[in-house]
Amino acid sequence: MSGEPVDTLYDRVQAAVTAVRKRTDFVPQVGLILGSGLGGFADSLEQPVAIDYGDLPHFPRSHVAGHKGRLVLGRRSGAACVAMQGRVHMYEGHSAAVAAFPARVLIALGAKIVIVTNAAGGLNPWWSPGTLMLIRDHVDFLRDHALRGPNDDRLGPRFPDMTTAYAPELRALVKDVAAKASIPLQEGVYVAMPGPTYETPAEVKMLQTIGADATGMSTVPEVCVARHMGARVIGISCITNQAAGITGAALSHDEVTETATRVRATFEGLLDGILAALATRGELA
Ligand code: HPA
Repeated sequence: MSGEPVDTLYDRVQAAVTAVRKRTDFVPQVGLILGSGLGGFADSLEQPVAIDYGDLPHFPRSHVAGHKGRLVLGRRSGAACVAMQGRVHMYEGHSAAVAAFPARVLIALGAKIVIVTNAAGGLNPWWSPGTLMLIRDHVDFLRDHALRGPNDDRLGPRFPDMTTAYAPELRALVKDVAAKASIPLQEGVYVAMPGPTYETPAEVKMLQTIGADATGMSTVPEVCVARHMGARVIGISCITNQAAGITGAALSHDEVTETATRVRATFEGLLDGILAALATRGELA
């Protein structure tokens, strides 16, 4: 073996952090991962510093319509935030570890709470498109895991506990914020499917049977690395459509983005309220 230094995951995270630090010394308290049609929230950050993913080493690029690819740092509702405007998905050809790499950088920059949002198909037949769902727990049906491979103890433990992956005290805070703002909010289990096909009706039946409430193609890799690194997680799904077979109508990405756009103001209001509550209730200390 030569004496060449090995480029570890830890080094790659540090390299991305160093690239951000060349642009700003802003230290975020909250990381926001903004899903399909929800990236506009990043434009509302105050005194923003925006960095294209292409300018950050090791950052994967997203190609899906409706996903911009940049990191935006700035304050909002009293919270210092770093937002991912756009994320990559495993179905684009990335490993779970690569898909979750940017989430590691948010946390390495300082974020101790990660708010992850997504568009999802509703498995509960009573939930109409536009419903917001607080994620209580997840089921991982992705065929790769973000922590697969050698563990680096500098990042986190080999076997992270997932008992309270979606922090119960933060779920209580979110429900309180939603109730006070009269924003209807359901709570349920998110199941991650590989995509990029939407589920078959038979798969939807299976997912309903195992007790899942919403199905999507993202989020779980980021949540796993957040728990690995000790960050607390809030997850919110926007139910953009009823999952395949429930109504019999064909699913389309246009329907997904149309619904996400329709509820965008409500969703952003909820995010705002959450950030304000995190700040005023001492959760960012
Ligand atoms: N299935 C999987 N992912 C999704 C869906 C769906 O029905 N809607 C939005 N993302």
